[in-house]
Amino acid sequence: MALFATMASQKSEEFRLRSFRLRGERMTKAQAGAIDEYLGEFEIPLNHPIELSKIFPKDRYKEIVCEIGSGMGEASSQIAFENPESGYLAVEVHKPGIGALLIRANNLGIKNLRVINEDIYLVLRDYTPDSSFDAFHIFFPDPWPKRRQHKRRLLSPEFIETLAAKLKPGGRINIATDWQPYAKEIESNFAKSKSFNGGVIQRPTWRPLTKFESKGLGKEHLVTDLQYFKN
Ligand SMILES: C[S@@+](CC[C@H](N)C(=O)[O-])C[C@H]1O[C@@H](n2cnc3c(N)ncnc32)[C@H](O)[C@@H]1O
Repeated sequence: MALFATMASQKSEEFRLRSFRLRGERMTKAQAGAIDEYLGEFEIPLNHPIELSKIFPKDRYKEIVCEIGSGMGEASSQIAFENPESGYLAVEVHKPGIGALLIRANNLGIKNLRVINEDIYLVLRDYTPDSSFDAFHIFFPDPWPKRRQHKRRLLSPEFIETLAAKLKPGGRINIATDWQPYAKEIESNFAKSKSFNGGVIQRPTWRPLTKFESKGLGKEHLVTDLQYFKN
């Protein structure tokens, strides 16, 4: 009843199921310390549209890459560290994950990384102009395995078109998932889109192994990597 009341009170086009689990914000002492000490240095505040070309100027940075759902920041920190010529933006709703990423970024002395602790739908809809990014990385998006949860999956046909709008011409998306039915759905959603070409690829050597992936491999999950280019 309460859920219906909430839904009815919002315009239907504004109602959206969350693609993430609400997990609370309990952090380790180190994560909380990193938020206090380094968030100001790395965070992009969401009070007006983000001017990525000012944050990562063209004369210094080859590309601007956004990781959606950076989790504990293992992949984003490692990739940013190994590619200082590109600018990286990590977007993650889970604050302890942002804390973990800040610890790594500080330990590695990373300068080419910024973070946003918010829902990517809002970040893209309200704060980033079209043609902002050269690439998106989406590693192990929540698989939502139960049938009734499928509509919470991030890579819906609508969201794929949002990504197309936010990519520069020729931009790309790299995705990895260890949930085979989701991999199939991702392939089928991209195949229906006129905005992209691509498909399954071999695991890129530059994609770091995260704890999340290791857990899946431990359960003998097959990992699928996919890559799409904007037409
Ligand atoms: C299964 S985890 C994978 C994390 C990481 N990419 C890795 O490989 O270890 C998925 C992450 O996506 C985040 N996430 C899901 N939906 C999101 C959204 N709409 N905006 C920002 N982050 C989101 C979740 O909070 C979670 O940390």
